[in-house]
Amino acid sequence: MDFLTNQTHLHITTWVVGIVIFLIAALSGKQSKGLHMLLRLFYILIIITGGALFIKGMDYGQGMLYGFKFLGGIFVIGMMEMVLVRQKKNKPTTMFWILFAVFLLITMFLGFKLPMGPMNFFA
Ligand code: HEM
Repeated sequence: MDFLTNQTHLHITTWVVGIVIFLIAALSGKQSKGLHMLLRLFYILIIITGGALFIKGMDYGQGMLYGFKFLGGIFVIGMMEMVLVRQKKNKPTTMFWILFAVFLLITMFLGFKLPMGPMNFFA
């Protein structure tokens, strides 16, 4: 399945679209049911494209960083889900917004640091 791992564009597209859908859903308040379902579809796409890169990444001898990247990506998804679900239940979301931002920064940093993809700002 070369198309998943030849480039990182597919992965980038899925998480950028996912985050945009999340922001629209979260900022539009409690009426976000359809968007939330669409976002869950994108979670799957993010994990499939990231997972394929992860398997290929095992050739680069940086297993621990790839492990952190994997976990970071999953936590970003987890925090998006927590914000939307807690918003629907009228519970406070501030802490999960903060965690979302923190995990997003860590995950993007690791993604750009790791060797695949055209952008290696922190190599
Ligand atoms: C919303 C969550 C996620 C964000 C914001 C994110 C962000 C990124 C970024 C910025 C890159 C670098 C792309 C490039 O250099 O061209 C990347 C690559 C990658 N991501 Fe994700 N990602 C997310 C979720 C995931 C998940 C869930 C996994 C694992 C299942 C994953 C695994 C990978 C792998 C293995 C790479 C390749 C690293 C390399 O350059 O060698 N990502 N991601």
